[in-house]
Amino acid sequence: MTLPPIHWQRWYDERLNANNNELWLLNLVPPVAEIAGNKWLKLHNALQQRLPTQGILSLGGAFSNHLAALAAAGHYYHFPTIGLVRTEQLDLNNPTLAQCLKHGMQLHALTRTQFRQRSSSEFNLYLQQQYPDYLVIPEGGSNLQGAAGVATLPLAETPNGIADLLCCATASGGTLAGLIQRYPLTQILGLAVVKDSALTDKVKLCLPHSMIAAANDQNWSIQPADSNYAKVSNELIDFCCQAKQQQNISIEPVYTGKALQQLFRLLDQGKIPANKRIAFFHTGGLQGLAGLHYRKILSEQQFDLLNR
Ligand SMILES: Cc1ncc(COP(=O)(O)O)c(C=O)c1O
Repeated sequence: MTLPPIHWQRWYDERLNANNNELWLLNLVPPVAEIAGNKWLKLHNALQQRLPTQGILSLGGAFSNHLAALAAAGHYYHFPTIGLVRTEQLDLNNPTLAQCLKHGMQLHALTRTQFRQRSSSEFNLYLQQQYPDYLVIPEGGSNLQGAAGVATLPLAETPNGIADLLCCATASGGTLAGLIQRYPLTQILGLAVVKDSALTDKVKLCLPHSMIAAANDQNWSIQPADSNYAKVSNELIDFCCQAKQQQNISIEPVYTGKALQQLFRLLDQGKIPANKRIAFFHTGGLQGLAGLHYRKILSEQQFDLLNR
């Protein structure tokens, strides 16, 4: 897998101009469209590390961008994949799961209680015994290797120069950890899209030991989420629709839209100083729009606009 080229898109907005701030969105242009955003980077090392005879097994929610990307990687790079899905029962009409199946992923349902055990050593031993021919990677692809993949690209180097502040949506923590590894001297902000009091520790688990010892949290922080994971308000949907209509920027409300909305709140509240060049890593997730439409969270019209 070669690393993807970077495409920068500037977000023009009076709220930025007011304080002489600049906002740049960084998009990766992956050779395989279905492995978009942070997914290409987070999967990169697992694919290199996988033995030729091994498949890859991972876990995720029923609309997981990570499972969708892993299934696509298996399909295009010819290796078997298994997805353990947090759900009582597999709904094969769910567009994400349908796409995973189309790409040849074997799917198994895990109840919420089973899913909660996912980090335990017993569960991981069970997986190794049950699936000896598979490399197991955690939910979201967030581990040391996943974060190291994110650290391979110059994600803070905007067309106008190095960013003063580098941001991304944060859920399982690997992406933020990758940015921290790459840029120990740049201010980095993870905009949490999940309410998770253990998120800082999860990020640290994706950092090499030498960095954890040095990690005094000075150059990075996490802005806590103000709503639960995948809670999508009308205001948030409007925010995403306006980004499309006014900036021609495609975002979705679960990750990038929610994180950017948070970023603008911080700007409005004066919590981001003036004269800053801000880079926001667009981590993908647009495949999730079909699932939001399927669950009637997005209307037909909103889906058409955002998915265009
Ligand atoms: C589209 C998208 N953006 C951001 C994230 C958050 O990245 P991380 O889980 O590495 O914190 C995810 C989840 O993996 C995602 O699917």
